[in-house]
Amino acid sequence: MVSVILEWANLFVRWFHIIVGIGWIGTSFFFIYLDAHLTAALGGNKHSAGKIWLIHSGGYYEVEKLKYVPPDKIPELHWYKWEAYLTGLSGITLLFIVYYFGGSGFMVDPAVANLTQLEAVAIGIVTLAGGFAIYEAIWRSPLNRLEGVMNLVCAALLVVIAWGLTHLLSGRAAYMHVGAMMGIIMVSNVLFVIQPGQRRMVRANAAGQVPDPAWGNAAKQRSVHNNYMTLPVVFVMISNHFPNTYGQKWNWAILLALFVIGGLVRYFLNTFDRGGKAAPYVLAGAVVGALALALATSLPMSSGAASGERVSFNQVDAVFAHRCVQCHSARPTDDMFHEAPNGVKFDTKQQIAGVLAKIKLMAVDTNAMPLGNKTGMTEKERALLGVWIAEGASLD
Ligand code: HEC
Repeated sequence: MVSVILEWANLFVRWFHIIVGIGWIGTSFFFIYLDAHLTAALGGNKHSAGKIWLIHSGGYYEVEKLKYVPPDKIPELHWYKWEAYLTGLSGITLLFIVYYFGGSGFMVDPAVANLTQLEAVAIGIVTLAGGFAIYEAIWRSPLNRLEGVMNLVCAALLVVIAWGLTHLLSGRAAYMHVGAMMGIIMVSNVLFVIQPGQRRMVRANAAGQVPDPAWGNAAKQRSVHNNYMTLPVVFVMISNHFPNTYGQKWNWAILLALFVIGGLVRYFLNTFDRGGKAAPYVLAGAVVGALALALATSLPMSSGAASGERVSFNQVDAVFAHRCVQCHSARPTDDMFHEAPNGVKFDTKQQIAGVLAKIKLMAVDTNAMPLGNKTGMTEKERALLGVWIAEGASLD
């Protein structure tokens, strides 16, 4: 009963999270685009940062960015904030539904560290709160003037956190917590710095003062951080579909490599429209990096070295029976999963033969399955499956 309710909660909260997330990231992309295409020559007065003409949904839009408007002319303003807040709230809710209440299989991997679910959840929450606190402490202090050095310090902390979490939690949960930590920082940048800065600007404007550009510096700094965190965080949110990332031995380094690739693509997007000369080279660097990463990680983890003897179906069927059908069956016996996850079942030969490539990916090339190695699959059994598949996966 509880697990059925959790599953529905998972569906609706995830659906909501993706929709508001699209709203947030979509508007942020849109405003970056607008800023990059404002044309000063079209601007009307000395407070104008430029103008842009757009065409969409059957009409023209004339948009001008103004740094100041006469107090009696301040129009009704449309603020962009709820997309960010709701993305953050629904994301944290989802973290609780899937990882904290969803059974230890998602959080704990005994092969990584033999923790209880409670210990793993505590580590997760301490990381989220601690990461946010350290970030705020750095960027609210006078240290923030050493921007370049502090960027490097934050990058180094990220490496330490990614490495540490992948040595404590399951690969999947470690990735999700690095992403959630960055997501929380992004939302709180909007809530605690960017929005208050804009409210201050509007108040000053209403009092007839031209807002001091220095006020916007902190907001600008946080906006740039959010801008560079967007693509990495979005990757983490889809990473659970990719055991070739979180399920590998060097999963922390793969995560960081993907972050660097995301950052390079972001740099390209930020600078290309403004005529940045380096932009194409940066994009080429990201593509080469992506190819190198794919190549380096396609080397299988288990050697699957031929044993000399032919592996029969009965041998591997015993592995499926001991390690997989607790969840992947028409009638699962697992305490958390009462329906075969993703509809994958191993009750018959045909069902097994139908998903060979996925079996190899999830249980031979990576340790993604069994989930949290809940059923205690051994390296020998993984190798056996590997040899069986390499020999052509005989069904006799
Ligand atoms: C404790 C329960 C559990 C056990 C045991 C288990 N799995 Fe899974 N399996 C899952 C869950 C949960 C998912 C869905 C993961 C997701 O959607 O993120 C899954 C998904 C899969 C998928 C589908 C992946 C996809 O991309 O759709 C395959 C293949 C798979 N498991 C293979 C195995 C194999 C092989 C074993 C035994 C060696 C095994 N699983 C043991 C829980 C389990």
